[in-house]
Amino acid sequence: MENVKNVAIVTGGARGIGAATVRTFASHDYAVASLDILQDEGEKVCALIRQSGGEATFYHCDVSDETRVKQVVGQIAERYGRVDALLNNAGIVLVKPFDEITFEEYQRTFDVNVGGIFLLTKYVLPIMKEQKSGAIVNMASVSGHVGQTDHVMYGSTKGAIIAMTRALAWEVAPFNIRVNSISPGSVDTPMLRSDITLESERTNLPFEQVKRMREAEQAFNRWADPAEIAEPIYFLASQAASFITGTDLLVDCGWVAK
Ligand SMILES: NC(=O)c1ccc[n+]([C@@H]2O[C@H](COP(=O)([O-])OP(=O)(O)OC[C@H]3O[C@@H](n4cnc5c(N)ncnc54)[C@H](O)[C@@H]3O)[C@@H](O)[C@H]2O)c1
Repeated sequence: MENVKNVAIVTGGARGIGAATVRTFASHDYAVASLDILQDEGEKVCALIRQSGGEATFYHCDVSDETRVKQVVGQIAERYGRVDALLNNAGIVLVKPFDEITFEEYQRTFDVNVGGIFLLTKYVLPIMKEQKSGAIVNMASVSGHVGQTDHVMYGSTKGAIIAMTRALAWEVAPFNIRVNSISPGSVDTPMLRSDITLESERTNLPFEQVKRMREAEQAFNRWADPAEIAEPIYFLASQAASFITGTDLLVDCGWVAK
């Protein structure tokens, strides 16, 4: 077993907020396991960290595939013998009017966004319970707080994640495990840019115009950089947040406060 200080698992670690989270935890001396379905991008993020002296390993894993999740968590546990932080970040967006959504699309959105968190948590919790410590941060969104046209299923998954976080926090508190969620506003990632592209096609408005409208939902009139979400995720998982559990942290630059 490798002798490391702290171990973090980050899902969706190949790009966007997840990649920034992998880098942030590695910079704080965590050994990071990055799980994603994008092999090349995921490997690249980890290789760069290792080149600069950090520890990060990529695992190809679809978070909605129970067999694979169980196998990968088993490999991580065998390698390090502990998991200190689980960052359930992987997610997909579905941008469609409600009456065009198929049952398969509804199922896939829930399988990845909610089912992925269920599966990772299911297999990591026994490790955290045994060590009597751990922190879980689940990725929600402002979409779990406010209504957004064409985002019914996506928003529903994020609302479910906030509710799951609250209930689980109570259930695992006796084991000294904290569970929180985070709700970012707009963050400049491939997911948001594809979301804007779809909206611009649907509304026949230029991409830049839709982008400006979506930037205006934040009080600073801009999107967040992924690192501005990774830092609050790190805070929630760190000892600095030792009295915080069962909460949802809005990192939305005032969107919901308006
Ligand atoms: N970008 C935003 O504005 C924003 C705002 C609020 C919340 N979020 C949430 O943040 C999280 C990360 O989003 P992002 O913007 O970085 O998106 P992104 O698409 O850039 O990155 C998401 C990552 O998750 C991975 N992923 C998708 N399905 C997966 C699966 N089944 N198994 C494993 N990995 C999978 C993707 O391959 C990708 O690397 C998501 O949960 C998203 O809902 C994003």
